[in-house]
Amino acid sequence: MKKEAILVAGGAGYIGSHAVKALRQSSFLPVIFDNFSTGHREFITGFDYVEGDLGDPKKLNATFESYRFSAVMHFASHCYVGESWENPYKYYHDNVVNALNLLKTMLDHDVACLVFSSTCAIYGNPVTLPMAEDHPQVPVNPYGESKLFIEKILRDFSQVYDLRYVALRYFNAAGADPDLQFGEYHDPETHLIPRAFDAVTGRLPELEVYGEDYPTPDGTCLRDYIHVTDLADAHILALEHLLQGRPSAAYNLGTGTGISVRQIIETIESVTHRKVRTAIAPRRAGDPAELVADPSKVMRELGWQPNHSSVEEIIRTAWSWHKLKFKH
Ligand SMILES: NC(=O)c1ccc[n+]([C@@H]2O[C@H](COP(=O)([O-])OP(=O)(O)OC[C@H]3O[C@@H](n4cnc5c(N)ncnc54)[C@H](O)[C@@H]3O)[C@@H](O)[C@H]2O)c1
Repeated sequence: MKKEAILVAGGAGYIGSHAVKALRQSSFLPVIFDNFSTGHREFITGFDYVEGDLGDPKKLNATFESYRFSAVMHFASHCYVGESWENPYKYYHDNVVNALNLLKTMLDHDVACLVFSSTCAIYGNPVTLPMAEDHPQVPVNPYGESKLFIEKILRDFSQVYDLRYVALRYFNAAGADPDLQFGEYHDPETHLIPRAFDAVTGRLPELEVYGEDYPTPDGTCLRDYIHVTDLADAHILALEHLLQGRPSAAYNLGTGTGISVRQIIETIESVTHRKVRTAIAPRRAGDPAELVADPSKVMRELGWQPNHSSVEEIIRTAWSWHKLKFKH
């Protein structure tokens, strides 16, 4: 039987690469579309891929003419909160226009199903905790705004055109492929766990801890860390939901448990048997004390479970991959 082809925009990136592997394991044919701006060529070995930019409608059109896609997964965007304040034009322009280009090409080629990488940043500061999908949507940075715009475009398009979508609102993606094929590697790295590894190995002089006077049990911020393998599983469930003809939806992807910066550091020290050198820095503007998902909707409707997201498994897989990647 011919495999169903799925376009994976941003499939050479951290989360996209894990989804590509999960697609193949679920007997789909993933086709990566990536400009390698933050993605990695070593992540695409053995997979079909097209080197292209979502800002290039001709390339997108040619790709859709080469394959008959059943659906699209869209991971490709700029995703640094800090950078989105330095260069809001880049975030509003590229994230939104590129999504529109992709949607237009889908509609032109009668591809009706999209799984979209959204984020908890669309909610802004928590009004209630844990945060459910109907939490107020008041982003506090251009990155979150750009993602919320795209969700609004999807909602409106799905009313008018033959398009159904699942928006997956990730909390903090973390961990690495258990077979160590892929892992987290951004440049610059802004995420806590890889930065803490860099402080362990001396690639960074020390890890800055932004605030230890929050109203949390140990004074440091609480975040909801979700293993990238669990994210990839959710993408397969969302895809199958759409391919079965079921309706558009938005789902949180998190565990429902807040883990503090201090807990992450302690777990890293216990897994690596090394000290994380830290420096206490002032709070960062816009960092809430706690961001925790209510994931009950995706569990109920898609049968998703975070099976790999204990803090130990996250740190163990991430550390194994980091050691392999940076050879220490
Ligand atoms: N990492 C997280 O914790 C997190 C949390 C919430 C949401 N997200 C979202 O998940 C998605 C993936 O995040 P990630 O951490 O894997 O990022 P990443 O930077 O590792 O991956 C993005 C991929 O998209 C590609 N890309 C970017 N712009 C492109 C363009 N114009 N044309 C073609 N390819 C392009 C990059 O080369 C890269 O391979 C993003 O949309 C991000 O906003 C990530």
